[in-house]
Amino acid sequence: MDRDQIRTRIEEAGNLPTLPDVVIRITEMADRAETTGRQLGLEIAKDQVISAKVLRLVNSGFYGFSQPIATVPHAVTLLGFETVKTLVLGSTVLDMMKDALPGLWEHSMACARTSALIAEHALLDDVQEVCTAGLLHDLGKVVLRQSMEDAFRTVVSLVQERDWLFVEAEEHVLGAHHGHFAGWLLEKWGLPDRLVRPIADHHNFHEDQPFARSTAVVHLADILCRAEALGRGGDRKIPRLNPAALEILGMAIDDVLGVMERMSEEMRDIRRV
Ligand SMILES: [Fe+2]
Ligand SMILES: [Fe+2]
Repeated sequence: MDRDQIRTRIEEAGNLPTLPDVVIRITEMADRAETTGRQLGLEIAKDQVISAKVLRLVNSGFYGFSQPIATVPHAVTLLGFETVKTLVLGSTVLDMMKDALPGLWEHSMACARTSALIAEHALLDDVQEVCTAGLLHDLGKVVLRQSMEDAFRTVVSLVQERDWLFVEAEEHVLGAHHGHFAGWLLEKWGLPDRLVRPIADHHNFHEDQPFARSTAVVHLADILCRAEALGRGGDRKIPRLNPAALEILGMAIDDVLGVMERMSEEMRDIRRV
């Protein structure tokens, strides 16, 4: 299979989450300038399953709120339209993430929070959005499992037998990896590039690419979570850090150690979930 064929396979896979009507409505509302946070929150609150999941995410520790958030309109006020919109999307894939690979959900949660810590440290404009990119960065592993189960199984056994990185085994089997797979699905869902690129490129950081700083955040956060053994990504090795990612974020090793210290302070919250 070449890349175009894989992409078509993913776009046409019947068992991947599709955008529920409520998400389409929310997306349209969020894009209209006159919509208030309260209106948006009330619209989401009409769907009980989605709002329960959104509230669970908001209260799960990785956004760092000290007080519990009880209502969706309140969550919209705190997080902003874009983040809530993406959380609504994320809520549709949470259960699949839990089923796909042991430890992937914990890894995703830890990466979300670590992305937020790095983004705050490096003074990025939209911390919440980068946090959401961190949450969804390995979604492509779920996409692979759901759309090409044979290839997924081959990848998993290569990882175990040869002690490869998951991403190496995917490249070997398919000539593309879970960053690409997630990117294709999220583009099909119509999500903006500034959210899609950091997810698609988290294993291929390059300082000249669009949205390089937020991509650098997710790239670094993923590696730190692996190094700290926060959850699991399906393999035993740790991807290599591209030093240009630290450079573009203006971070030195001491800054990284500072972030890691804050991560371990917060881990109790994340483990509780
Ligand atoms: Fe990854
Ligand atoms: Fe990861």
